[in-house]
Amino acid sequence: MRYVTAGESHGPEEIAVIEGIPAGLDLSQEVVDKQLARRQHGYGRGDRQKIETDTVTFLTGVRHQKTLGSPITLEVHNDDHNNWTKIMAPNEPANAENTLRKVMRPRPGHADLVGGMKYRHHEDLRNVLERSSARETTMRVAVGAVAKKLLAEIGVDVHGFVANVGPAKSDLSQLTKYKNLDELRAITESFDTRALDAKADAAIKDVIDRAKKDANTVGGQVEVIATGMPVGLGSYVTADDKLDAKIARAIVGINAFKGVQFGSAFDNSEKFGDELMDEIFWDPERGFYRGSDNLGGFEGGMTTGEAIVVRGVVKPIPTLYRPMQSVDIDTHENHKASIERSDTTAVTAAAVIAEAMVAIELAKAVLDKFDSDNIDRMKEQVALYREEIKHF
Ligand SMILES: Cc1cc2nc3c(=O)[nH]c(=O)nc-3n(C[C@H](O)[C@H](O)[C@H](O)COP(=O)(O)O)c2cc1C
Repeated sequence: MRYVTAGESHGPEEIAVIEGIPAGLDLSQEVVDKQLARRQHGYGRGDRQKIETDTVTFLTGVRHQKTLGSPITLEVHNDDHNNWTKIMAPNEPANAENTLRKVMRPRPGHADLVGGMKYRHHEDLRNVLERSSARETTMRVAVGAVAKKLLAEIGVDVHGFVANVGPAKSDLSQLTKYKNLDELRAITESFDTRALDAKADAAIKDVIDRAKKDANTVGGQVEVIATGMPVGLGSYVTADDKLDAKIARAIVGINAFKGVQFGSAFDNSEKFGDELMDEIFWDPERGFYRGSDNLGGFEGGMTTGEAIVVRGVVKPIPTLYRPMQSVDIDTHENHKASIERSDTTAVTAAAVIAEAMVAIELAKAVLDKFDSDNIDRMKEQVALYREEIKHF
């Protein structure tokens, strides 16, 4: 399975093409739209979300709510494009009217300056920011929705929530209260901060409100948990095949994500070995299992069968309404950076995007190992493999 996205933030459409999804998977627009709505709704997001109501159209690869095995093309319309038809016009040469929203003062922390240098967009840094904008993550969430649907067929569930925004933290010790991800999902999705508890929800809202009032921005961390993965996906044999490494790349590939850990990785650096390794047990029902999951579900780049626990670190949003120091790329004079309509924090939406990226990497790993032509054959193969592993 592979995919590519296309689309500019204020262009007419966002597009994704996915190749390698087996035939026969049930797939309806509602399944994707539900995830798109989750990405749009989160405390601290800006006014763009009031303009957009993201809904997907399947242009290819789906018939009668089932996948055909051919490439699936997903399209989401940018409602805001109506306000930008001149500025984004593909068939007019640049003129005084359609370059009114030029960006000449790059924002520190965004892709503006380096992207302009690299692609020689000296005339207008909008040519960079239209693509580097996180609007593109709409399509990663859409692809992730398809991946989650495929994973659900073999009993794999994936859910993302917010660990902290600035200094306001979810009480992660509460995680043990939840028997499965459905229970966890019911709690975290009941808060528009995606926090784990009411106290954290209130504290996070307070941090975001204060940042907004101060014309500032704030970052945080999100956590994604995946349950039900078969043992032994990924491989220790070559570095390229390590599934934890692929997930790490996918997470840091999300706009503004600057760090990733599995299990309690960063805290582990302060621990001794006997405090950390997940001890091995066996019983006739379950086969081999672990007494803990400190390593976050991976050994040797392979799934252990325990829950996969991935944390991503999201930096504060680069665009400040109280802009920081920059330089005009035309005159080379000092100026405050440009301002684009912007969020106060990306963290609440980022939990949904990270969840989608983990789902995509897990679905790829499943389709690498098992039949990818037909969903029923894939399920049969997974069931046989699970049975074999149980009797190891
Ligand atoms: C959900 C989400 C929303 C974002 N919204 C904004 C935004 O409104 N303004 C902004 O300057 N950056 C925003 N960002 C971050 C930028 O897209 C990102 O910082 C930029 O592309 C530079 O890439 P880098 O931070 O990965 O180096 C957002 C990121 C995410 C994940």
